[in-house]
Amino acid sequence: MIVVATSADELAGMCERLEGLGAGLLDVVEPSDARRVILAAVDDERNAANLVASLQAEGVMAVMRPDGGAALQAWFRNTRPVVFGKRLSVCAAWSEHDRSGLVGLVELGPGGFGSGHHPTTRQMIEALVKRVSGGERVLDVGCGSGILGLCALKLGAASVVAVDVKPDAVEAALRNARINAMDDQLEATLAGLGEFDGLFDVVVANIARAGIVELARELVAHVSPGGWLAVAGISPSQCSQVVDFLHPLVEVERATAGEWSSLVLANSEPQITTPDQEPSPECARGDLNPHILSDTGT
Ligand SMILES: C[S@@+](CC[C@H](N)C(=O)[O-])C[C@H]1O[C@@H](n2cnc3c(N)ncnc32)[C@H](O)[C@@H]1O
Repeated sequence: MIVVATSADELAGMCERLEGLGAGLLDVVEPSDARRVILAAVDDERNAANLVASLQAEGVMAVMRPDGGAALQAWFRNTRPVVFGKRLSVCAAWSEHDRSGLVGLVELGPGGFGSGHHPTTRQMIEALVKRVSGGERVLDVGCGSGILGLCALKLGAASVVAVDVKPDAVEAALRNARINAMDDQLEATLAGLGEFDGLFDVVVANIARAGIVELARELVAHVSPGGWLAVAGISPSQCSQVVDFLHPLVEVERATAGEWSSLVLANSEPQITTPDQEPSPECARGDLNPHILSDTGT
């Protein structure tokens, strides 16, 4: 079986398209006012996989879904919306779970790591929920699906620069920005942190200990005075060493869930607030080189 997420407006066209491609329509679920989820049968698994791949290549939010048994139960568990307090929730776009009453909903299509279910992603989102108050410029390092940047925007941040080493992650982040109508606020790039200037109020990096240590200097250099950096993907025993690498930022919070820890570190340099010294909009968005963006093919 395949599942295709679409909008109420595009439902009829998408159903027609799927039937034209040989899929048999089984059901249409309405998990929210705007979202429609089409369940369709395809004669064998290989054809289903090929169809999903070709639909995804066009940007359609299509995935394979188990037909029944334990695999389907796991599917339902893994596609449950994740709720973060009273301000934010995250859900796969193709989830059949009702989400009509959820506040601050971010929906995610296929591609890129980060659905909101992994403990490291959750720790980072919890830091954002606690600390984002509105208007922040955010740098999302190792953006995967773009989940952290999109959550920051949903919480009121002004703009996000998302970077990843994987082209499919950059594409997924851009696609997810579009489906959440945030594409005017998020730019995504394969550029390395050393390739652009700019200070950010918030820097998030869920890239494991080795990645944090490797990028420590650049991560620190991009945090504005008064800003903060959150890192995750480290074990509790690695925390103190990671803090040392991120000097002169100062640890202000440590969270541990089982084998995973996350840290929040602040740049305690005083903030300069005179109008003359406010960063320009270009600086605020990271001053990205446009030709680097076009390298992503998106
Ligand atoms: C664990 S995932 C995190 C995804 C998402 N930010 C989240 O919190 O769920 C790590 C991501 O970092 C990317 N990554 C790893 N090393 C990196 C580096 N040095 N620079 C940029 N991205 C990196 C990987 O490609 C992957 O998409």
